[in-house]
Amino acid sequence: MLIGSLFRLSALLQQMRLLGYVIGNPRTGQADFEAIDEISKWTYTVIPHGDAYIFGRIEEVVRRTGLQPGEVRRRILRGEPLEAEETVIGKLVLFRIIDGSRSRPVDVPPRGGSPVYEAPRELIMKALRISEPRRETAYIGRLYKYDVPVYLDINDLVPLHTVVLAQTGQGKSYFAGVVIEELLKKGVTVMVIDTHGEYVEMAKPAQRTRLHEEFGVEPRGYGDRILVFSPDPRPGEKRLQFTTKSLSASDILSMTGLRVSRRIQVILKRTLEMLKASGVPFTLADLAEQLVVDSDDPNLELLAEAILEVHRMGIFGERGVRLSELVERGKATIINLVGVPGRPRELVVARLIKTIFQKRKEGKVPPMLLVVEEAHNYIPERPGNALSKPIIATVAQEGRKFGLGLMVISQRPARVDKNVISQCNTKVIFKMEEKDLQAVQKSIEGFSSSLAQTIMSLERGTCVVMSPSLPMPLIVRVRPRESRHGGISGRVL
Ligand SMILES: Nc1ncnc2c1ncn2[C@@H]1O[C@H](COP(=O)(O)OP(=O)(O)OP(=O)(O)O)[C@@H](O)[C@H]1O
Ligand SMILES: [Mg+2]
Repeated sequence: MLIGSLFRLSALLQQMRLLGYVIGNPRTGQADFEAIDEISKWTYTVIPHGDAYIFGRIEEVVRRTGLQPGEVRRRILRGEPLEAEETVIGKLVLFRIIDGSRSRPVDVPPRGGSPVYEAPRELIMKALRISEPRRETAYIGRLYKYDVPVYLDINDLVPLHTVVLAQTGQGKSYFAGVVIEELLKKGVTVMVIDTHGEYVEMAKPAQRTRLHEEFGVEPRGYGDRILVFSPDPRPGEKRLQFTTKSLSASDILSMTGLRVSRRIQVILKRTLEMLKASGVPFTLADLAEQLVVDSDDPNLELLAEAILEVHRMGIFGERGVRLSELVERGKATIINLVGVPGRPRELVVARLIKTIFQKRKEGKVPPMLLVVEEAHNYIPERPGNALSKPIIATVAQEGRKFGLGLMVISQRPARVDKNVISQCNTKVIFKMEEKDLQAVQKSIEGFSSSLAQTIMSLERGTCVVMSPSLPMPLIVRVRPRESRHGGISGRVL
């Protein structure tokens, strides 16, 4: 890895803040140092190492007080002061040896007694290689506690996969919006399964805040690159509709949620086949009507009523939206599923992703990123209970071969299929509770206990990012959005 003019580091050393000295039993990946000054977690460090330097980060800070259990009480009773001889230990994760203009993995641990310095901004930028605004990078935010911009490699996002996890309200969808903005700027095609209608406002610019200036971001709308499809479209949106003729009897039954007898199943199947055979476009209302036309069987009436209810959602009609309308190169298609209940929603998602995957294999749609919001609904942990799960699992496994990347987002990490999570090369994790963290820990490589502690205490809008092209997990303050975040809540009026 070339990292440019680090020869200047020797000159920089004199200006760097000395934090302490290496103690204990340093290893190639970790070392402890005794601090001579106040130190804090997530500070990047430099240790001189022969003619080279070791680049690392403080992962944990331990204060050794020397006070033994019971001693405080004893001293108080005796009226003795409580001050104790204190030692502060910094626990380092060592990342690479920087040698002239090159860097390599740490193959020899630092020597005991070596000084540990706080790494200057310039060195962090070069060593982490996250601050180069190239054509294939996406500006996602800044390194936590540092004025260092973070650019992720777009090739890690498409066609590789990303999982975004956190408890509710921490900034997952906001982050996904940031990524989408960046991809659109580079002409990458995106489709969002927008369960709660949170992306429909991306056409409009965000309201300017002080964060925009801090992060160097200019509010702007993406009206020319956003296509919104809704079952109940507002002006400017398109109708999300599939042909009724593409449905099977079991699709229809599963959407009604009814369990019916074999006899009723056969009647439904026959009636559906008859309508399809007529060659005339039909709706679910036509099917419901046909079912009860010559019968007063209450079970059939019940089924017809349930089918009418699905019909009223407006997703299935005489005419279906064409793939060429749905996907346009360099644009983001927002599939707004607000108000669509569970089963039909799963069916729609399964159908969309199946078609896109197939057409992608045939080269008929461009390489793209598929964002799946509220993923616990579509890829639940328990087997066999979501119509959308098999196809999403297939894309997680094979999508990258065909240029189809997944971004899976959920606030219920424990309830998301772990196989899919472990297929995601990039992990973006905002604040999470311990039990959720434990549920996903096994599916995430390189998860240290100090990282877990950090995740539990993150602030809103700040996340841990782990990615193939990053040398270590980074803590990133996500940049403010250019476009507007969040939909019109509920859209009931
Ligand atoms: N990086 C950020 N900068 C500024 N504000 C942010 C940032 N991230 C999140 N927010 C604020 O926090 C709110 C909640 O974020 P967001 O909608 O992304 O949460 P979420 O994690 O997707 O939650 P849920 O699980 O409920 O969907 C946003 O509406 C926004 O106001
Ligand atoms: Mg969200």
